[in-house]
Amino acid sequence: MVIAIANQKGGVGKTTTAINLAAAFALRNKRTLLIDLDPQANSTMSYLDITTIERSMYDVFVDSAVGMADVIRPASQENLWVAPSRIALAKLEARLVGELDSHFKLKDKLALVADRFDVVVIDCPPALGLLTVNALVAATHLLIPIQSSYFALEGTDDLLETIERVRTRANPTLRILGVVITMHDKRTSLARDIRAQIDKVFGKKVFRTVITKSVRLEESPAYKESIFRFAPESSGATEYYRLCEEVIDRV
Ligand SMILES: Nc1ncnc2c1ncn2[C@@H]1O[C@H](COP(=O)(O)OP(=O)(O)OP(=O)(O)O)[C@@H](O)[C@H]1O
Ligand SMILES: [Mg+2]
Repeated sequence: MVIAIANQKGGVGKTTTAINLAAAFALRNKRTLLIDLDPQANSTMSYLDITTIERSMYDVFVDSAVGMADVIRPASQENLWVAPSRIALAKLEARLVGELDSHFKLKDKLALVADRFDVVVIDCPPALGLLTVNALVAATHLLIPIQSSYFALEGTDDLLETIERVRTRANPTLRILGVVITMHDKRTSLARDIRAQIDKVFGKKVFRTVITKSVRLEESPAYKESIFRFAPESSGATEYYRLCEEVIDRV
């Protein structure tokens, strides 16, 4: 199972979902790999000391001699590994221009280590470029975080169109696992309206578990911990654990 967490909108909770969903799988004794494909490297920084990273996913993409096994590092949590990103990934597109297999790089490299993991979670950058397309080609499933905000659904058409293009040729079996509403504030009527709007567009695809707004979730990456270690009693921990259960039920 390879789950891409994607939405080209920035700041909707992709990284928070990727790091905590990966941690939830690891807690359930699944050998889990978290791949960071965002040049901002926020997932990487949530688990590793970035100054100690010599090779990253950038090298995996551009150097045929570098495999995933050369960059994967254990996180502090049992059953969890991270394939780190670096800012260099921002220049990947320019570097791979003209290469015929540029959309298949991740899929091909991942295939060589796939048997080491039960679950792979991919954190995508806020764009629909080569990195996100690589994730969609390599993925078996897609999970879309949508922020509970007034412009929540803006841009989802472009995302769905990209998914359709990927399905047409490169990855016909890619499945939309679901949509998770993030940063929800259940006290406001606006948030309830937004939820109704998202339900109308995505119907049964919307996960029952909603991730509410939580200071704990915001703080945990700074302590290099998942929410389960940083604040195991918090709403964020309960919600991401439930989301993981729902994900398992759906696949
Ligand atoms: N449930 C939540 N409650 C409160 N803050 C949250 C929650 N989820 C995410 N955040 C915060 O919102 C900001 C954006 O979240 P995150 O980095 O996960 O989004 P993203 O989609 O990965 O962003 P980008 O597109 O830049 O990669 C971060 O500061 C994060 O800590
Ligand atoms: Mg992010």
